[in-house]
Amino acid sequence: MRWGILATGKIARRFASELALVADADLVAVGSRSAESARAFADELGGRPHSSYESLVADPEVDVVYVASPHGQHLEHARLALEAGKHVLCEKPLTVSVAQTEALIDLAREHDRFLMEGMWTACHPVVHTLADGLRDGRWGRPRHFHAELGFRVDAPPTDRMLDPALGAGALLDMGVYPLTVAHLLFGEAESLHATAHRSERGIDLDVAVVGRYPGGVLATMTASMTSWSSRAASIATDRGRIDVADFHHPTSATFTPYGEGLSNDTVNDAEPEQIAGAAPVIGLGFGNEIVEVHRCLRAGLRESPRVPHSQTLTLMRQMEALLASVGVTYS
Ligand SMILES: NC(=O)c1ccc[n+]([C@@H]2O[C@H](COP(=O)([O-])OP(=O)(O)OC[C@H]3O[C@@H](n4cnc5c(N)ncnc54)[C@H](OP(=O)(O)O)[C@@H]3O)[C@@H](O)[C@H]2O)c1
Repeated sequence: MRWGILATGKIARRFASELALVADADLVAVGSRSAESARAFADELGGRPHSSYESLVADPEVDVVYVASPHGQHLEHARLALEAGKHVLCEKPLTVSVAQTEALIDLAREHDRFLMEGMWTACHPVVHTLADGLRDGRWGRPRHFHAELGFRVDAPPTDRMLDPALGAGALLDMGVYPLTVAHLLFGEAESLHATAHRSERGIDLDVAVVGRYPGGVLATMTASMTSWSSRAASIATDRGRIDVADFHHPTSATFTPYGEGLSNDTVNDAEPEQIAGAAPVIGLGFGNEIVEVHRCLRAGLRESPRVPHSQTLTLMRQMEALLASVGVTYS
């Protein structure tokens, strides 16, 4: 599979290094708004440099374009690639609104091309094991889910993390992960409510969400651009607790059983169970996402069963409603 990378920022670099871990993935081209950035990226990570996105998507050797620009620009850049006849893997969140997400999905259909949101967490083997095991009741009945993701953002106001025109905001950037993991583990939320702190420019810097999921699972989820979170998730069940470090790309999870007769003040000396994925994690997990794209393209699919368009749309609807409720909108 011959890949072209659109944009040369932080995640594009990470993605390129994980492409190198997948045997049948070839980085053949990279496009940037600047010839210098494209050349520097290509010198370090490979691919033919293109000094514009238009030139990248016109490269006849590229089969699939990975869009790694700020999410406020995803619609414009994914559109370029689809209109040039390329398949597209576009970073999360796919866009910044339901209307834009629908427009992009329609474009992919119109051009009969593959389109997938780069929701690597949904391609992650440990997340799959957790979803399957919870569905089968392997660790008891889940009652509470908690997940938090955040780090302090010290960046100039023009940075994509802070500039509303580029789609900045904690929920779209980080909150999309706890919401997605809750969706993958428990199904579609029955209700969601948010509270947030906004910046002077009107984006959510900190956001907390409470939700109710099928089976009566209650969830608390936070995203922050002002503080250092644990980046952990936990699932409390009627038989014990599952702890997941780096829950959006976990290397494993741990189930601590609480046997019969234990009370709140008894020491629990039960041996924890390590929960691993059925397949190896490739790199940080972008490798597994790349493998999923290859699998879909070889099978002639136009969307991934792991990250179906309907799921991306559901999550976008949830985020748009939550953001509206705390007074954040994207023009
Ligand atoms: N999956 C993950 O874990 C993960 C992690 C981080 C970010 N992301 C997603 O990846 C996307 C990019 O994030 P990033 O952290 O890589 O951002 P970044 O470091 O700021 O890079 C963004 C790149 O986009 C290009 N770009 C195009 N139009 C732009 C504009 N108007 N302003 C600024 N840059 C523009 C630039 O590349 P050129 O100068 O080469 O054109 C820039 O280097 C976001 O949608 C984000 O949500 C995903």
